[in-house]
Amino acid sequence: MREWHLVTPLARSTSIDHLRHRNRVFLISALSVLACMLSSPSALPQASQGTEGVSGQQAFNNACRTCHMVREGDNRLGPNLHKIVGRKAGSLPDYAFSSAMKEAGFVWDEDKLDRFIANPDEVVPGNSMKPYGGLSSSEDRKKIIAFLAQSQ
Ligand code: HEC
Repeated sequence: MREWHLVTPLARSTSIDHLRHRNRVFLISALSVLACMLSSPSALPQASQGTEGVSGQQAFNNACRTCHMVREGDNRLGPNLHKIVGRKAGSLPDYAFSSAMKEAGFVWDEDKLDRFIANPDEVVPGNSMKPYGGLSSSEDRKKIIAFLAQSQ
């Protein structure tokens, strides 16, 4: 009986030590995984853009995503912008374009998109992309167009 009392606390303390050790090993490996993620730029979504400030996707989200999705077939208030570079203006069969857009008669390229996003009425007078105030930052326009072109 006496012996039992002596042994138990000892046995307990070694098993707690063992548990602590296992926790420490787990913590160390979790930290090194984290360190790895932080030091490798490709693991971070924005770092791969390489530019300062907002990415093309963020600029698109800020200025266009209220009305447009890039995913094929996903029309909202505005038509989806899937493969918009190289697509004929006003040509989606399942979206109700203004007649101005339907009759625009050109194919979207980077230059047309740039001018349209800056001032829609200058490129397609009478279009119905409203309310939209235009995007005056040419840097943001460039980023958005690059984002649209690479997410085809
Ligand atoms: C307030 C909603 C709204 C916002 C914000 C908006 N659009 Fe639009 N967009 C529309 C609508 C509505 C149309 C259809 C216009 C028409 O039929 O005349 C359109 C049409 C377009 C078209 C022509 C598509 C085609 O199939 O010919 C392009 C390109 C376009 N938008 C790009 C953009 C981009 C890029 C942005 C962000 C910089 C943006 N839009 C922001 C509503 C919006």
